[in-house]
Amino acid sequence: MMRITLERQPLERIETGALIVLVFEGRKEARFGAGDLTDAGEVAGKSLELTLLHRPAGVAAARVLLAGAGKPEKFSCAELRKVAGAAVRHLKSKSVKTIALALDPEYAGGEYAAAAVEGAILGEFEPDRYKTDDDKKSVEAFAVVVSAAGGAELDDAVARGRILAEAQNFTRGLVNEPANRLTPAKVAEAARQMASEFQLECEVLEREQMQKLGMGALLGVAQGSAEPPALIVVRYRPAQSESKTHLGLVGKGVTFDTGGISIKPADGMEKMKYDMAGGAAMLGAMRAIAQLKPAIPVTAFIPCVENMPGSRAQRPGDIVTAMSGKTIEVINTDAEGRLILADALTYARQQGSTHLVDAATLTGAIVVALGHLNVGLFANDEAMRERVLGAAKAEGERMWPMPLEDDYKDYLKSAFADLANVGGRWGGAATAAIFLKEFAGETPWVHLDIAGTAWLDEGKPFLAKGPSGVAVRTLVRLATEWKET
Ligand code: BES
Ligand code: ZN
Ligand code: ZN
Repeated sequence: MMRITLERQPLERIETGALIVLVFEGRKEARFGAGDLTDAGEVAGKSLELTLLHRPAGVAAARVLLAGAGKPEKFSCAELRKVAGAAVRHLKSKSVKTIALALDPEYAGGEYAAAAVEGAILGEFEPDRYKTDDDKKSVEAFAVVVSAAGGAELDDAVARGRILAEAQNFTRGLVNEPANRLTPAKVAEAARQMASEFQLECEVLEREQMQKLGMGALLGVAQGSAEPPALIVVRYRPAQSESKTHLGLVGKGVTFDTGGISIKPADGMEKMKYDMAGGAAMLGAMRAIAQLKPAIPVTAFIPCVENMPGSRAQRPGDIVTAMSGKTIEVINTDAEGRLILADALTYARQQGSTHLVDAATLTGAIVVALGHLNVGLFANDEAMRERVLGAAKAEGERMWPMPLEDDYKDYLKSAFADLANVGGRWGGAATAAIFLKEFAGETPWVHLDIAGTAWLDEGKPFLAKGPSGVAVRTLVRLATEWKET
């Protein structure tokens, strides 16, 4: 793991393998002997443009990396996070082991320092656990450099950035695990281990307890697999709390989604190991929440199953009874996420959650609607929607509000049960959301469909291909900035 520090020193004195210096469009950089490059237009400060200088003039660093930060008026924490990530990835590929990033006084506030640290840690992550070559590159140390005047709040900000990014990478690591190595029982084991490391409570409900609770929707999905299901509950309680609210985080944990009897086509099916990304996001969020200690109690509920076809698998046409008492006709066994979430939402309410957020790789339809850029955000409550959107904006995670009117429920009519688990061809993300809404009931609730955003099919300069860890930072901020109303 990368060593993270904050340095209060003139940047000339920093001894490091490479010093990252931001260059902005329209502001000429003449330091480090870069004047000629700037004059020639080779260094223009365009966003994510990177220029490596060797043995630069006037600094102790072995190299200076000029990192384009775009137009100064467009610069933000989100931009800095990307620049830091792209710079670290570039330097890592050149085998640079120690890196520092200089923040000008105008951007030396806590949020910027945290964003730089986050960008570096997120950029450093590689989903290469199962590659056996022994020359895997890694960065040993990353420092944020501010002038000697930098205040004490910067230490907290750097610590916070590290906690957030490491939590997000924890999520990415879990999502990256293949389904043969990460079964529901193994997710539970990972949750237990994380909980004991960070002093959280962890409880795992097994099949028998689910049967007693009447979780017929969850159990129906689980019955097709030889791997037993697990409902993971991780609890954070603040030391003293007069909080009347209790945040419940519910995450879809399908360790592999074959589609079941309504089986998916072979092409691209390997990606369905990521179908537990919502659950992994909740575990990552709890890992950070345990360290940042918000005033509000938070509990994560993660239903874990493997969706398999087999002689015991549920069939299209089966009717299951959910824990809430509602009956569901399973028209399509591939719409399994909403089935397991239905019971997890009911359980989360029964356990005292006053506010709920779920995250799930729920529908292909959200990918059609929003591409890979935005999380689809559905809510049954205006204030709750604004809370989550506000947290997402502050964290630079893009989420887009989607409609959830009661009329969508008409699509889920079943002739034989209270509702069907699919709603036909159109509006697939909204019909999935309205299905969940039946189980969120009156509790203020937000549903995040992360099917398009939890996995990057192509790497970015600042982030490796594969699991993105989306929603972790937003959920943590939601908890840490919670205000009772
Ligand atoms: N895990 C999938 C969602 C998914 C599909 C993510 C494709 C990424 C790409 C989910 O369980 C699913 O299969 N949903 C179906 C629902 C349909 C049967 C109503 C879908 O979206 O195709
Ligand atoms: Zn499915
Ligand atoms: Zn699924």
